[in-house]
Amino acid sequence: MKNILSMSQFSNQEVYDLIDRAIEFKEGKTSNVGMDKYAMNLFFENSTRTKSSFQVAEMNLGMREIAFEAGSSSTTKGETLYDTVKTIESIGASVAVIRHSQDEFYNQLLNRNINIPIINAGDGTGQHPSQSLLDMMTIFEHFGQFEGLKIGIIGDLTHSRVAHSNAEILTRLGAEVSFGGLDSWYTNEFAEIGPHMSVDDLCSEMDVVMLLRVQHERLSADENKNFSKEDYFQQYGLDMRRVDMMKEDAMIMHPAPVNRGVEIADDVVECDKSYIFKQMQNGVFMRMAMIEAVLQGENSADELINQKRQIILR
Ligand code: CP
Repeated sequence: MKNILSMSQFSNQEVYDLIDRAIEFKEGKTSNVGMDKYAMNLFFENSTRTKSSFQVAEMNLGMREIAFEAGSSSTTKGETLYDTVKTIESIGASVAVIRHSQDEFYNQLLNRNINIPIINAGDGTGQHPSQSLLDMMTIFEHFGQFEGLKIGIIGDLTHSRVAHSNAEILTRLGAEVSFGGLDSWYTNEFAEIGPHMSVDDLCSEMDVVMLLRVQHERLSADENKNFSKEDYFQQYGLDMRRVDMMKEDAMIMHPAPVNRGVEIADDVVECDKSYIFKQMQNGVFMRMAMIEAVLQGENSADELINQKRQIILR
């Protein structure tokens, strides 16, 4: 595995392999694949969980982080993303973890002279593979499989890279995905995957209720002006009345950050059915598995090049 860019790149088996490896790390297995290597986390959009989780994962694998702050970097002087990544490669980083506001930002790096693995930590409204994989791990730990599970994704579908990543991979793994939230967010892309349902119906029928934050930073000025937190919470928010409608072993998930009192009630965030903080805990182990996979991919590519060189020299 050279880069991790989108859930569509993974076979189902590769997803299961990453889950297995992440669970091994959670159980205490270690790896020295990152020993004496440097990682660089290039976050051009804000983050709490993903950035710190990658940092801990890197340290757990023996890596050291080269600090990077987008606001004080030379990107503010016009340096391109390609030149930034080429620079950190030249300085000695072995992996670049990148979050960027541009959808598919990685296309400007592929098929060019970048020789270190790229991990997508979230591209615009596109994909969020590390979140998606840690979500798959969390669901797998609870249910032991995906086939036939009913999953409801509720919220700002259009702007959510988590919705895009999860809807695709869950369907491929055999789950039945349904959606809730504003009608205008339920675009053709989602209609092709599953039905749009009321939040009450989703709560009573689903095995997993996956909530999404309303991404005000991606809404238009008019959309933000017309948005009422109270109305949204009443119509689409998960409160204890709705939690009580859920199946006994159903899960509540949310990639976070949560907006308490908007898509989720304060007392639901840490209720018995909530796996929100478990998702964050699992994120470290899944990101260890991801980094290990790309570093091993890089090593095997290097070995292949060396083998070819030796054959040529003989
Ligand atoms: N879930 C997630 O991506 O959170 P951050 O934006 O805090 O990284």
